[in-house]
Amino acid sequence: MPQGALLFQATGYRHEIWTDHLRRLIPELDIRVAEEEAAPDDIAYCVAWRPKPGALKRYPNLKVVFSMGAGVDGIVADPTYPRHVPLSRVVDDTLSQGMTEYVVLHTLYWHRRMSDLASLQKLHKWRQIAAPRADSVRVGILGFGVLGQAAATALRALNYRLSGWSATPKHVEGVGTFHGESGLVPFLAEADILVCLLPLTPATRGILNAKTFAQLPKGAAVINCARGGHLIEEDLIAALDSGHLAGATLDVFQTEPLPEASPLWAHPKIVVTPHVAAMTDPASFMRHVADTIRRMDRGLPPENLVDFDRGY
Ligand code: NAP
Ligand code: GLV
Repeated sequence: MPQGALLFQATGYRHEIWTDHLRRLIPELDIRVAEEEAAPDDIAYCVAWRPKPGALKRYPNLKVVFSMGAGVDGIVADPTYPRHVPLSRVVDDTLSQGMTEYVVLHTLYWHRRMSDLASLQKLHKWRQIAAPRADSVRVGILGFGVLGQAAATALRALNYRLSGWSATPKHVEGVGTFHGESGLVPFLAEADILVCLLPLTPATRGILNAKTFAQLPKGAAVINCARGGHLIEEDLIAALDSGHLAGATLDVFQTEPLPEASPLWAHPKIVVTPHVAAMTDPASFMRHVADTIRRMDRGLPPENLVDFDRGY
């Protein structure tokens, strides 16, 4: 029997899509969906997505916070977050599958020159453009964690040449691995397609900048499906306009929704998608929440915990 109530705190989400799953899994759990319904002392569990700064410090009996996303930058950056409360993030096969599909789709898009072919179609022009063999295309994944490694497995099956960059050393069969600051330049030098799957932390903010782009081979493409804060948008536009970069796919932005006036929308070498690369599956996520609540009832710790010192 869970001790305390769960608060669902994700403004803008249709809560019943999420909470109905949880009610089925733990019928006896007291679920509150609005802050007004939640007497601070009652709340033991919280499901959160981009809570307002300060929102989570109101609950003295909070035992765990479940982030509805894999990325926890919006929560970790809140200096008032009560750090003794464990923060559990999404690590889920359905999310990895979604991200893998997105990365494979856009890797193929730039490798197979779909942007150029689409422009030719608009002009009713029949011109054959030969694409290089996949085994000569080097895909570099910035952030070689759960999602980066899942995408790499699928890309390897298509014969791409893979490399990954992480904070700590990794050994993954068939993948060139690089780590730390000293590993970044050699990693970039051999990335024809650069995929960003880093968490947003003070160390990674703005990492997709002019200096990084200059270190990529001429004609490289960039796929950012991590966070908008990784990218210096003006630097990307300059690198595309100079012809150094061939194209970019952007799923995440400094400001979301992307403002109508943003030059990114209409840039001929940019594909924009509205933060849809991998979306948390409500049923699967709530299974994780229910399992964790039951684990904690038995005195076991929650899983997939964020390390506040690292920021992810
Ligand atoms: P993860 O498992 O924590 O992996 C993060 C990777 O980044 C790890 O390999 C880590 O290195 C590396 N890293 C972190 N800081 C670094 C640094 N300063 N230098 C070098 N490498 C560093 O995270 P994940 O589950 O793969 O998720 C990655 C990100 O994807 C999330 O944080 C989120 O922002 C984004 N995301 C986006 C969407 C979308 O729809 N667009 C959906 C889901 C997630 P170590 O392995 O050495 O720690
Ligand atoms: C989505 O952006 C996530 O972090 O899961």
